[in-house]
Amino acid sequence: MEQYVIKGGHTLHGEVEIGGAKNAALAILAAATMTDETVTIENLPDVRDINVLLQAIEELGAKVNRMSPHKVSINGSFIRSYCVDNEFIRKIRASYYLIGALLGKYNNAEVALPGGCDIGSRPIDLHIKGFKAMGAEVEIAHGLVAAKAEKLKGTHIYLDKVSVGATINIMMAAAMAEGKTVIENAAKEPHIVDVANFLNSMGANIRGAGTDVIRIVGVSKLHSTEYAVIPDQIEAGTFMCAAAATGGDVLVKNVIPKHLEATSAKLIEAGCKIEEYDDAVRVIAPKRLTHTQVTTLPYPGFPTDMQPQMAVVLGIAEGTSTVTESIFENRFKYVDELTRMGATIKVEGNVAIISGIKKYTGARVNAPDLRAGAALVIAGLAGEGITVVDDIHYVERGYEHLEEKLRKLGAVIDKVSSEKELHKFILKVS
Ligand code: EPZ
Repeated sequence: MEQYVIKGGHTLHGEVEIGGAKNAALAILAAATMTDETVTIENLPDVRDINVLLQAIEELGAKVNRMSPHKVSINGSFIRSYCVDNEFIRKIRASYYLIGALLGKYNNAEVALPGGCDIGSRPIDLHIKGFKAMGAEVEIAHGLVAAKAEKLKGTHIYLDKVSVGATINIMMAAAMAEGKTVIENAAKEPHIVDVANFLNSMGANIRGAGTDVIRIVGVSKLHSTEYAVIPDQIEAGTFMCAAAATGGDVLVKNVIPKHLEATSAKLIEAGCKIEEYDDAVRVIAPKRLTHTQVTTLPYPGFPTDMQPQMAVVLGIAEGTSTVTESIFENRFKYVDELTRMGATIKVEGNVAIISGIKKYTGARVNAPDLRAGAALVIAGLAGEGITVVDDIHYVERGYEHLEEKLRKLGAVIDKVSSEKELHKFILKVS
């Protein structure tokens, strides 16, 4: 089992390039199957979830040509099956986007119930509500979601909860439905705008993405396009928190600063200096971080995917901070691991009360999920001594070459796959 091993105490300095947004790219790859022409997508992050979804798309019969780790072309005209079910696809959450894409184009989809990080129950009732509202029959049986329709018809859908996945999935299915669909209480994340822009570049007619009302007029056919995915705001925010926690000074490049506003605002409240440029932000950490309060909310609120990373920053800030998780019901699993590194955090319901300590101490910890795993890496970088992070397959679902990018910023970190390699690293850095 691979692990990250870190010798903490080194401040991060220099520049880091951010990759394409995983959660936009996953939906865009699914949407790319909705045309019989060839679609080329650039700025893909080369991470596990992307590779699993591409494999599933190929298994459907689509022609997939991985021109480089960050560029792929897809031609859906050879798709002969509407059933997606394998051991890998069951592990990722974004498999559900293939339901919206296949139902939208073929009026037929059978996809394994989605997996994903264990941060809560992860229902898909809102996705199903949308598909049914457009006239599909949807059944869950044998671990599969089966959706079928004579022909999807546009309708008015109100989402009871703000849901990124449901918003994107319904938008995709509606793109080729008959007539007009209105999605009320839609999620407004930047990657929803990215998916809408992608579909519109294929000839779809989608207006209002990025607001809470999205209007879609279905079209009979979608065509080829060439598209580049937006930068990943969560990867960017993760490096911003790593700079803050290690007392560093890092220029995070290839970002859209507006997408990072909530993270920047909270790091400023914690004492950091943030300089914004056209496509970069610079984070200059203070000598000592200070406490603040964070509540996760749908965009443009503070992103839930940045919650563990921000909690690690506040864990070594002066004073008492609170972190309130309002999106998922089980997103504090990293607290026990962080406690092993000396953190003093009390979780009461969906609120973590964090009494800042001076420094984390290195320890052996397990990554409980993707973003919590990245947060534990940040704690190791900021801590004293050696930290070993296990179960890093979670982290590699969403971060490309994390240890290489951190090493370029001055971190002393390596990825090892045996106790022997681990001891070699420890000897080398001692
Ligand atoms: C997407 O998950 C992201 N995953 C998550 O990122 C992210 O945390 C989340 O959006 C919120 O931004 C992908 O894009 C692959 P939701 P998703 O639907 O679509 C409830 C990461 O780290 N809900 O916006 O599953 C749900 O339980 C991952 O990259 C329903 O009740 O999130 C949650 O409480 C982790 N019924 C809330 O809505 C539904 O049908 C928001 O979930 C759907 C969701």
